[in-house]
Amino acid sequence: MELEDIGRRIDQKTAQLAVIGLGYVGLPVACEFARAGFTVLGVDVRADRVAQINAGRLPMEGKEPGLAELLAQVVESGRLRAAVEYGELADCDVVLIAVETPVDENHRPQYAALRTALANLGPVLRPGALVVIESTIAPGTMQGLVRPALEAATGRPVNQGFFLGNCPERVMPGRLLANIRQMNRVVGGWTPATAQIMVRLYRQVVSGDLDPTDCLTAELVKTAENAYRDVQIAFANEVALLCESMGGDVWQVRDLVNKSPGRQMHLPGAGVGGHCIPKDPWLLIANAGEGFAPRLIPAARAVNDGMPLHVADLVVDALRERGKGIAGARALVLGYTYLENSDDTRNSPSADLVQRLAQLGADVRVHDPYVEEYQRDLYARAAGCDALVLMVRHGEYQGLDLARLQGLVATPILVDGRNALDPEQVRAAGWVYRGVGRGA
Ligand SMILES: NC(=O)c1ccc[n+]([C@@H]2O[C@H](COP(=O)([O-])OP(=O)(O)OC[C@H]3O[C@@H](n4cnc5c(N)ncnc54)[C@H](O)[C@@H]3O)[C@@H](O)[C@H]2O)c1
Repeated sequence: MELEDIGRRIDQKTAQLAVIGLGYVGLPVACEFARAGFTVLGVDVRADRVAQINAGRLPMEGKEPGLAELLAQVVESGRLRAAVEYGELADCDVVLIAVETPVDENHRPQYAALRTALANLGPVLRPGALVVIESTIAPGTMQGLVRPALEAATGRPVNQGFFLGNCPERVMPGRLLANIRQMNRVVGGWTPATAQIMVRLYRQVVSGDLDPTDCLTAELVKTAENAYRDVQIAFANEVALLCESMGGDVWQVRDLVNKSPGRQMHLPGAGVGGHCIPKDPWLLIANAGEGFAPRLIPAARAVNDGMPLHVADLVVDALRERGKGIAGARALVLGYTYLENSDDTRNSPSADLVQRLAQLGADVRVHDPYVEEYQRDLYARAAGCDALVLMVRHGEYQGLDLARLQGLVATPILVDGRNALDPEQVRAAGWVYRGVGRGA
């Protein structure tokens, strides 16, 4: 099959599409292409997820506007079907890969899922099909891993046996569908001709700009944009810690800094989590050229990783004000996901906080309305506690009934890691208050 044949089938919506990896990225992408009129096959190693999708049920919790309805609709219409077997991919013209790409404890990329996907896809891939990596990967991975792995698994060279590209996703849980539809995308093709075909493909679902480029540039852009965010958050956190040390208020400082032209100080907080921001900076620098040792990006990671531990220090400090020690104190952590109104707990800052508090001898409980394990009644969980520690701005926590809680807790201490509550109101209600970035 020639590249232009794929282009024609895309234009006519007769191209058979597949998405490997049906998680936060792959599932909405599969749904969107199905909505656009394509027949889409989804492949995932998780049989439970595949069964749920084929039953038209969303396999994730959290607020995701429109996704549950769209999934039910495209499954019902027969446009989307999921499978665990790779054999069914043999009929596909275009295969998108959206498997997870974490880093290990030494911050090195872990491509086990990607390698498995490529190894299983290769033997069944139709000659001349287009394969697009949507997963976030370290710059140089298309060249150093994806191309050789797929050439070995297919027994055919790139541009002859198959076509290859990298179109990284920019979605954010909570707005998955809207992001896919509206956001600009970087479209990296192994050749300029491949990038043009990819532009025709993504134009079917994306209304934002589609910027064709090469694979290395696409890899660099994706990881750099998330490293940018991490560094900006680290700057905000550093100013927050400085404000605390000097009696300043970072929220007031931030408001006024941002009145200065060209300044957009990010939000400080109790830590950075999720599957992207804490690991993509490491991906960005994973293959840095010899003789270059990045300094700013690792420093920013260290600042952000330190924030949950700083929240633990605030708990200790507040307890001290009440004449209590941390050992034996009972703390209730409010929120275990990394993002408000989501069920995603990957790289959760709350996990680090819980571990630290436990190390210090505290008796730690957790509440989270979106995490099954922690869904019990908040007020019942708060009974007898010495400190409430707010780590996620879930909607449910904005309207905390402080008067009712005060009657239940043993010690009225509230530590706000997300600036979710008004400190004056909390103090006026008789609580000891500590907040990230708010000096005494
Ligand atoms: N979550 C986000 O907000 C987001 C945003 C932009 C980019 N990304 C990137 O997109 C990629 C996917 O992230 P995600 O959040 O969707 O991950 P996820 O863990 O939610 O989904 C990955 C899916 O791939 C499946 N999988 C793993 N190995 C497989 C294999 N060999 N064959 C078939 N299926 C396999 C898993 O079972 C899982 O369902 C990552 O590279 C991530 O960095 C994520």
